[in-house]
Amino acid sequence: MSAPVILRVIDFINKAAGIVLTTEKAYFVEARLSPVLREEGLPSIDELMTRAERGDRRLAQRVIDALTTNETFFFRDKTPFEHFRNVIIPELLARRPAGKTLRIWCAACSSGQEPYSLVMVLDELKAQLAGRQVEIHASDISEAILSKAKSGIFNQFEVQRGLPTKMLLQYFQKVGDNWQISPDVVKRVNFFKFNLLEEPKTMGTFDVIFCRNVLIYFDRPTRAKIFDRLADRLAPDGFLLLGGAESTFGVTDRFTSHPKERMLHVPLLRRADPAARTAIA
Ligand SMILES: C[S@@+](CC[C@H](N)C(=O)[O-])C[C@H]1O[C@@H](n2cnc3c(N)ncnc32)[C@H](O)[C@@H]1O
Repeated sequence: MSAPVILRVIDFINKAAGIVLTTEKAYFVEARLSPVLREEGLPSIDELMTRAERGDRRLAQRVIDALTTNETFFFRDKTPFEHFRNVIIPELLARRPAGKTLRIWCAACSSGQEPYSLVMVLDELKAQLAGRQVEIHASDISEAILSKAKSGIFNQFEVQRGLPTKMLLQYFQKVGDNWQISPDVVKRVNFFKFNLLEEPKTMGTFDVIFCRNVLIYFDRPTRAKIFDRLADRLAPDGFLLLGGAESTFGVTDRFTSHPKERMLHVPLLRRADPAARTAIA
């Protein structure tokens, strides 16, 4: 792939999704876009980019779908789900008036293992929840991965990653070579397309936001902007969970560590002090 073509792809995916790629990733870009060329009967990446940039939204989405990395698995990293079970839900139940629905958002949910893991934890906490409604909203920029998430179908490898056997037997049915998660579990997650570069104004306020293993793909100014928006969507005493390699340190002052658990974040200020924020930027 020539230098101008790789630069074109790098610019496109950065503007469309915030993802930062470098020219060393030319092999990755070629490997990911080659199947799209074949399936679409297009002669070159250059031609694909011309069409995507000139307003062919379907092709632009295909490029985004191809260049996003959707690595995920059930109960990924374990600790966030332990925090959710042992700290977050008990604290929220203690603070929120009875009858108030709890709202959770998985902000880059990939193929759905993260929100489905949360459904399973909530089932374990049924007695504690005592009939309390919990909404789980799950979004991603990739339409292809969202349709996989909504299908609730996982292959053998996927159900062997992180999912306890007890839960495999409780929630899944074997269908051919694959496993289908119970339709009741699928129904409990509201999947929708959402680009983290956009303003999530109409979504209301969430008690818990999982935004894990996606910020690593963005540069610092983009992460700062996204943190700002997440802080605006999070209840003042809500919880933000990040991936193991992600941190607010040196990027934003809108979150602070939970006093008990270093991995938990709660917003420090609803309206950040502009002077402090300038100092970080
Ligand atoms: C590595 S997966 C992480 C999935 C899950 N949160 C986890 O930790 O296992 C990253 C996801 O972020 C999505 N993504 C990338 N850029 C995005 C953007 N600008 N807005 C929303 N989602 C995005 C990708 O499509 C991908 O599914």
